[in-house]
Amino acid sequence: MGVKGTSIGAVFFVIASALLLLSPSPSADASPLLSACRFDQVYQLGDSISDTGNLIRESPLGAALPFARNPYGQTFSHHKATGRCSDGLLMIDYFAQALGLPLLNPIKDTKANFEHGANFAVAGATALSSAVLAHHHVTNPVTNSSLDIQLQWMKDHFHKFCHNDCERKLQNALFMVGEIGGNDYNYAFLQYLDEARDTLKILELVPLVVAKIKHAVEKVISFGARTIVVPGNFPMGCLPIYLTKFGLESEVDEFDENHCIWLLNSFATFHNDHLKKAIAELQEKYPYVTIVYGDYYAAYEQLFNLGETEGFELQKACCGVGGLYNFNETRMCGFPGVKACRDPERYVSWDGIHLTQEAYRMIVDWLQADLFWKLRCHH
Ligand SMILES: *[C@@H]1O[C@H](CO)[C@@H](O)[C@H](O)[C@H]1NC(C)=O
Ligand SMILES: *[C@@H]1O[C@H](CO)[C@@H](O)[C@H](O)[C@H]1NC(C)=O
Repeated sequence: MGVKGTSIGAVFFVIASALLLLSPSPSADASPLLSACRFDQVYQLGDSISDTGNLIRESPLGAALPFARNPYGQTFSHHKATGRCSDGLLMIDYFAQALGLPLLNPIKDTKANFEHGANFAVAGATALSSAVLAHHHVTNPVTNSSLDIQLQWMKDHFHKFCHNDCERKLQNALFMVGEIGGNDYNYAFLQYLDEARDTLKILELVPLVVAKIKHAVEKVISFGARTIVVPGNFPMGCLPIYLTKFGLESEVDEFDENHCIWLLNSFATFHNDHLKKAIAELQEKYPYVTIVYGDYYAAYEQLFNLGETEGFELQKACCGVGGLYNFNETRMCGFPGVKACRDPERYVSWDGIHLTQEAYRMIVDWLQADLFWKLRCHH
């Protein structure tokens, strides 16, 4: 992806904009730096980090799901709950804005417009199929729409959308393959670490998950993708759900300098390192495709630097009840009587698992500068 006719002035403008991004102001919209890449479509595979309304449409529980009800969506005008797992917008929404495109519609919204892309992400989805996870004694209680299923939807969609002309029609499309895989680990840690703290067993999932993501990248290349971002995992040891589950009886030395659980963040880093290696292999195999790593981990860590100056609440969830981290799995956000804080724009965590709109906005502000260089949009 390149931009024609770059001048010194344009390069200067871009550098100046990138520097401005280092100190984002809390109320501004995402800066449109990435619009220079001139993508005309975005396609997203993933889980609740990116789902803009698929789970509430595919699940038999539908409108009874917490994400279909307030306080989810409370930051939107008219407090509209859209199925997004946050108080408002997600990272993919801010990416779309930064690209100068409309917000991405969920593929399960059959009447929606998909001219500028489609969102296949499903909240709760895993990279591995439910059958493979069951083999490892892990259950997905939310959805069976894992990566392979989402890829099948994508294939069906392109069959209608671009027929035999997909390579041309998709040449300026951006593909986001993930974040995905986080739930494979979440379910494993939250389900069977109850009995034994057997991280080694969970480590065995990492090569399987990464191989599955690698396979998904090859699949989207076969559909016609030429620019692909493959995001890694967040520092999961910083999330209130994990701090509550494993942090309460922990020794001080089990926390890192940001008061996150060291072991879990090492685990996320282990996954991310494997993923980066897989991306390097893919880039070598497909030199005509741009495949870059989306550093969600580093982007999240920026919030800790900003947090001190901006008066951010870094540990407690905004929406929840009780305990050190305002999180209790027996009374989570969306359950009857569970209230949200009044000022979600001061919180990183929305419900103990997902982030607030404001955290997502700041993360994208950082990421789009990083991606801008990696995608070589400044050529
Ligand atoms: C996933 O599929 C299995 C087997 O068909 C089924 O028993 C289970 O209810 C499904 N799970 C969800 C959450 O839909
Ligand atoms: C969660 O709530 C239950 C029921 O009120 C309580 O027994 C439990 O101690 C709480 N757990 C935490 C971690 O605060």
